[in-house]
Amino acid sequence: MPKRSTTVDDTGAAPLVHEQVRIQRGRRSGLPVIVAVHSTALGQAIGGCRLARYRHWRDALTDALRLSAAMTDKCAVAGLPNGGGKTVVALPPEATLGPAARRALLYDVADVIASLDGAYATGPDVGTDPTDMATIAERTPYVFCRPPEAGGSGDSSTHTATGVMAALHAVCDAVFGSPQLAGRRFGILGLGRVGTHLARQLAAVRAQLVVTDVDLNKRPLADELGAAWLDPDDAFRAEVDVLVPAALGGVFTTETVRQLRCAAIAGPANNQLDEPATADLLHRRGILWAPDFVVSAGGVIHATAVELHHETTDQASHRVLTIGDTLARILQDATRAGVTPAAAALDLARQRVQLAGRAP
Ligand code: PHE
Repeated sequence: MPKRSTTVDDTGAAPLVHEQVRIQRGRRSGLPVIVAVHSTALGQAIGGCRLARYRHWRDALTDALRLSAAMTDKCAVAGLPNGGGKTVVALPPEATLGPAARRALLYDVADVIASLDGAYATGPDVGTDPTDMATIAERTPYVFCRPPEAGGSGDSSTHTATGVMAALHAVCDAVFGSPQLAGRRFGILGLGRVGTHLARQLAAVRAQLVVTDVDLNKRPLADELGAAWLDPDDAFRAEVDVLVPAALGGVFTTETVRQLRCAAIAGPANNQLDEPATADLLHRRGILWAPDFVVSAGGVIHATAVELHHETTDQASHRVLTIGDTLARILQDATRAGVTPAAAALDLARQRVQLAGRAP
C-alpha cells in the first residue's frame, strides 16, 4: 500500500492527507483507540476495526494511516460510493482480553466512532468478528457485519475469499493464458479466517496447495485438505504458480522479493508491500503483483450491497465476483500503458476520487 500519508512533497514537508484522525485513550480500557478517516470524497468512510498487539501505539497510528488510505483505494476501485477509514486499537504486546475487558474496549471504540457523526462506519478486521460488531452496535449505528440474528450481513470473510477466487482466475488467465485453477499450485500464507476459506475453496476446485501459518494448530487443516505444510520461514521460497498472502501486511520487502519463486502474487492481506516502490521491484523480477486493495474488496462489496443497498445475498455475491473483471481490466490497462498493475489500479482509484471531489 502506498505510504501516501507520509509522502514528502518538494518542500520537504509531509502533508497530512487524511481528513481526520482521532486518537483517544479509552475511558474504560485505558487503551489507545485510533480512528483514521482518510477520505469521504466518495461517501461515508468505511474500514474494519483492527485489534492487534503493538510495541508502541505510534506504530498502530502508522498502520491506521496506511490502512485507511488503502480503504479509499479499495472502495474507489470496487466502484463503491464510500471512502476509506480504519480503526486500530494498540494492544500491549502480552495482552489477553477477558470478556468484560473486551466489551469495555469495544464500547470505547464505539464512543470514538459515534463522535464522528457518521463520517465513518466500521466492520470486522484482524482481531474482531461479527459478535464484536454487535457489541459496538449497542452504542453506535455505524457498524457493518453484525451477525444476521442481530440485523447485520454477518461474517464477511467468506465473501472476501470468494472475491480472491475471482481475482485468482483473472491472474491465471493473464499469466498462464487460462483461468483454470485446477492443477495449479498455490501457496497460502496465513490460515486465519479468510485464508482458511480460501484454502477450502481452492481445494474444492482441485488446486494444489502449500500452506503455512505461524500458529502450528492450523496444521491439521493442511492435512485435512491434502495440502503440503511449509515452515513459515521458508514460505517466501515456495515454488508455486501463485503466492497468496492472507495474513498481516508488510511482507514483501527488498529482502523477501529476492527469495520469491512464484509467477504471481494475489491475496487478501491488506498492505502487502513495505513501500510502494516494491511493486516496481516485483515487476522487474517478472512477478505479477495483483494490488491487494483490488483483490481483497469482497468483504466490503458484500456488506455494503446487503446493508446499505438492500440487495439480496445472490445479488451481493454476484457483485463480489466482478472483482475478477475489474482486475482483468486493470491488468490489461497496465500492460497497454507499460506500467505496473499497482500504478494502473491507483490511477483508476484516484480518477474516481477526484471526479467525486469535483462534483457539486
Ligand atoms: N476488513 C475489511 C476490509 O479490510 C473491512 C470491512 C469489511 C469493512 C466489511 C466493512 C465491511 O476490507
